[in-house]
Amino acid sequence: MKIVITGASAGIGYETALKLSENPANEIIAIARREDHLKSLKEEASKRNTSSRLDYVVGDLSHENSLDYVIKSIGTKYNAIDILINNAGHLINKPFEELTGEDWLAVYSTNVFGVVNVIRNMLPLMSRNAHIVNISSMGGMRGSAKFKGLSAYSSSKAALINITECLAEEFKDRGIAVNCLALGSVQTEMFSSAFPSFKAALSSKDMAAYVADFALNGNKYFNGKVIPVSNSTP
Ligand SMILES: NC(=O)c1ccc[n+]([C@@H]2O[C@H](COP(=O)([O-])OP(=O)(O)OC[C@H]3O[C@@H](n4cnc5c(N)ncnc54)[C@H](OP(=O)(O)O)[C@@H]3O)[C@@H](O)[C@H]2O)c1
Repeated sequence: MKIVITGASAGIGYETALKLSENPANEIIAIARREDHLKSLKEEASKRNTSSRLDYVVGDLSHENSLDYVIKSIGTKYNAIDILINNAGHLINKPFEELTGEDWLAVYSTNVFGVVNVIRNMLPLMSRNAHIVNISSMGGMRGSAKFKGLSAYSSSKAALINITECLAEEFKDRGIAVNCLALGSVQTEMFSSAFPSFKAALSSKDMAAYVADFALNGNKYFNGKVIPVSNSTP
């Protein structure tokens, strides 16, 4: 499988990339802004399995020029992508009155426009029967518990849920499945910034095992679906 995963320099994305790299049949391209973290990811993957095939491209998915570079780099490595995991995410925890226009733009530029632009640009490279997995949040689900300070973040994740449903419909004739995992709490840098005084029940490694398996197999059973993956609130 040829797999692209965004936001792989930390947290859930890092562990998911590592998990997928355990199988040398998987060729992985990991994307994020922090090159030193991606370098460590690559080193860790080959330490665990010398025949692992994990490479990375450094880029900021919220900036058009940087995204162009990412897409071109992937195009030179792969002629087909089987799995795209849109995991990169940005969270700002601030009361609504303090959120500036810039804050809203920063959150939406990564969580909504970043994902849309990645999908639009990678579409020509997607193989038939490809699987696109969008990583959203329980906070983006209608009727779920909401938390103070997360209006920009949670609403952006709600948009991602809707985009998933729309694109599944648009891409179904090409055989491309689009699904969304609405994650609950996982102990990561992002979780600590949203809930400094909570400890999540799941580690990144726990969640990565689910995400990796779903990315590989979920399209056999689901298309256009939003699956809550959560065992606690928050
Ligand atoms: N942890 C939770 O409890 C939880 C719950 C629900 C949903 N989620 C979702 O799960 C996903 C992973 O979250 P996490 O908790 O693992 O967060 P994290 O540890 O903060 O990692 C976020 C990742 O996204 C990357 N990223 C952020 N902005 C980017 C940009 N503009 N361009 C490229 N990469 C970017 C970061 O890398 P660089 O900084 O190196 O670019 C990092 O690799 C996110 O979509 C998040 O919303 C998490």
